[in-house]
Amino acid sequence: MTDPKTFAARFPGDFLFGVATAAFQIEGATKADGRKSSIWDAFSNMPGRVFNRDNGDVACDHYNRLDADLDLIQEMGVEAYRFSIAWPRIIPEGTGRINEKGLDFYDRLVDGCKARGIKTYATLYHWDLPLSLMGDGGWTARSTAYAFQRYAKVVMARLGDRLDAVATFNEPWCSVWLSHLAGVHAPGERNMEAALAAMHTTNLAHGLAVEAIRHVTPNVPVGLVLNAHSVIPGSESAEDKAAAERAFDFHNGAFFGPVFKGEYPASLIDALGDRMPKVEDGDLAIISQKLDWWGLNYYSPMRVANDPAEGASYPATQGAPAVGKGVTDIGWEIYAPAMKSLVEDLYIRYELPDCYVTENGAAYNMGPVNGEIDDQPRLDYYIDHLSVVADLVSDGYPMKGYFAWSLMDNFEWAEGYRMRFGLVYVDYETQERTIKKSGKWYRELASQFPSGN
Ligand code: NOJ
Repeated sequence: MTDPKTFAARFPGDFLFGVATAAFQIEGATKADGRKSSIWDAFSNMPGRVFNRDNGDVACDHYNRLDADLDLIQEMGVEAYRFSIAWPRIIPEGTGRINEKGLDFYDRLVDGCKARGIKTYATLYHWDLPLSLMGDGGWTARSTAYAFQRYAKVVMARLGDRLDAVATFNEPWCSVWLSHLAGVHAPGERNMEAALAAMHTTNLAHGLAVEAIRHVTPNVPVGLVLNAHSVIPGSESAEDKAAAERAFDFHNGAFFGPVFKGEYPASLIDALGDRMPKVEDGDLAIISQKLDWWGLNYYSPMRVANDPAEGASYPATQGAPAVGKGVTDIGWEIYAPAMKSLVEDLYIRYELPDCYVTENGAAYNMGPVNGEIDDQPRLDYYIDHLSVVADLVSDGYPMKGYFAWSLMDNFEWAEGYRMRFGLVYVDYETQERTIKKSGKWYRELASQFPSGN
């Protein structure tokens, strides 16, 4: 087995190792202390949306176990914790009344991290939009961007003095395309116009929040977390290569383009421009303000072929066969080289700032045998992908840190609780946490760094 101590030597001494979670996936206590419903509370309680009709009511009960969970993070030897803040705890109706009790919870969270020597990497939006905002159209309504800007301001005014970094959005690809076009995430729409509107509102909300954050807390490094897709053509044919370019524009360019270049990709505009909402004067300047860092969430490559069907809708692609090292339990192809080529490609196409891998990890669902969780395949996945990150560092890419997804098993969105991504196993009956084999390895690795606990 790869020795974590030897492996650690492949990273610079100031490389940051962390673990990541998100509010709706772990907190539970969805009705506590003035929190109101989010779109995920509503969606998960509709029949047929989430596996087993699981919901976030209890999740990992993190809201009630905060101190013990922070102890666990400390025990994992990491330097940083990436978490998200639940908008419906802070401004329960999305606009209007601020809920002090919601802010108090995150106050305790950041103080608890600081007391344990753990750096705080907060994400403002990890998909739990206050349900009330759906009355105005949710992310399809431009007004939601301004509501988000206000929320960002409120959070930063209260917590900003103790945040080491902040991200505006987590994976807009999911909260736009998966949520409004594919219909598999909340609010479950399947409509291109709605998706394009959500795309632009989300990009605008990001830019408006950057402005607000810089105004309230100019010293907190601000970034955006993107699940960039490593798009690989299924063959060397010109058709498949062109399909891969279109897929790149649609899946990556829709967000990277406006944020890092101040423009939407030409192929997207050509195909869908007349169905997009109005891009007002000044929007793209707001969206493309320089960021201090960006976050890469990477799990699996995207292999595409041309879809030759007459009238196939943009980007007119279909899947192509996997060639990697098999799949994880959620069915995602394992192929670490795509992470490397993806980063190389993105730094050619865009002027990108420092990069943190804000998520990487694997779903494997094995449970305890005699009290131990032997999740060797997850450990292999981590070693393969961390090797790529180490190679990128030695090739001179500004890779500054790595957050494992996830600290512990949690609510995996449409998959409910059946898919387990944790370094720590959660027994949902007893809420007992048990560090898995992969978690022990990661702890050893992270502890090699001077700032580790
Ligand atoms: C991306 C998301 O940010 C996170 O919430 C999710 O659990 C993981 N990927 C795994 O799907």
